[in-house]
Amino acid sequence: MPTDPTPRSATAPTRFAVLGTGHWARTTHARALADHPDVEFAGFWGRDGEHAATAAAEFGVDSWSGEEGLSDLLARVDAVSLALPPDVQADLAVRASDAGVHVLLDKPVATDLAAADRLVEAVRRNGTASVEFLTYLFMPEITTWLAELTELAERHGPWEGGVFRWAGSIDTPGNPYAGSRWRRERGGLWDTGPHALSIVRSLFGEVEAVAAARGPRDAVGVALQHRGGAGTTLSLTLTAPEGTGGSFATVWGPGGRHDLPRFHGTAAEGFARAVDRLRTAAATGVPDALDVRNGRDAVAVLAAVEAHLQRPDGTTAVVVAQG
Ligand SMILES: NC(=O)c1ccc[n+]([C@@H]2O[C@H](COP(=O)([O-])OP(=O)(O)OC[C@H]3O[C@@H](n4cnc5c(N)ncnc54)[C@H](OP(=O)(O)O)[C@@H]3O)[C@@H](O)[C@H]2O)c1
Repeated sequence: MPTDPTPRSATAPTRFAVLGTGHWARTTHARALADHPDVEFAGFWGRDGEHAATAAAEFGVDSWSGEEGLSDLLARVDAVSLALPPDVQADLAVRASDAGVHVLLDKPVATDLAAADRLVEAVRRNGTASVEFLTYLFMPEITTWLAELTELAERHGPWEGGVFRWAGSIDTPGNPYAGSRWRRERGGLWDTGPHALSIVRSLFGEVEAVAAARGPRDAVGVALQHRGGAGTTLSLTLTAPEGTGGSFATVWGPGGRHDLPRFHGTAAEGFARAVDRLRTAAATGVPDALDVRNGRDAVAVLAAVEAHLQRPDGTTAVVVAQG
């Protein structure tokens, strides 16, 4: 294991590996890296050597596994992208950063605030670059819409409210995430919540207070109070009945009422833009707006929602008429 945490690359990193061997690791992270004209895709690391070798064979690259394999890999690459359960991702990203390797994370950056803070501190301490891949924020239809809405708010006044519905259906037959442990444990709050928050936080600024109540299975309804006075609501789940999943959002204020548009590119195309952003951040030394600090602040909101849900007095019962 290298002891010098000086970033391997003071220029744009070229040699990348993927930590993780699952569906998303292969179809999005690896696909984007293999197709990227300016990077060399070195291979996969996985805890399971056979899974890593199978994924690597698909792309004609190397594979690593286990503790020693990870140390060896980190000594050979400039950057890693992580497609692992987020509770595993955070501390592995700290380890990569401590080895001087730049990190391209997936959402959420962690599933508890202490781990997110460790990650922020590691990236600061080591001077490595970081970017969190928040799919919607790497799609031109969405970023153009956000820029237009920001301009409208500057002209007419801040947005006052919004409703955000983000729902997956992982119990639909054939869904690649049906067996995902962390999704079953943490639900839509931690899986679809980061997507909703990526839009909410782009338009409404920092969240100051939260309240929440549970729905069926993992579903949660969340109310967010923003600095400046706006209020937004989120409806999040991973287990929407078949045919009822999907996401939509509407925001309103003095600049009118507006619906979030659809995007049309693939996730791998978006991920390639995240690779470019990481390379720029590493080469310039200027942190990306979607770095681990931004990711940590989203985790803080999700953790506050979870804390609210766990309070014994988290909801106020409605008085039901007798008789
Ligand atoms: N933006 C999006 O739309 C989107 C979509 C999908 C996923 N993602 C993100 O991508 C990340 C990974 O998601 P995923 O769906 O691939 O997760 P996952 O299916 O739950 O797990 C991915 C892989 O991680 C490995 N793994 C599990 N536990 C591990 C551990 N303790 N140590 C090391 N490896 C472990 C497993 O591979 P082995 O069994 O081979 O070890 C598993 O196949 C998450 O952050 C998720 O939010 C984003």
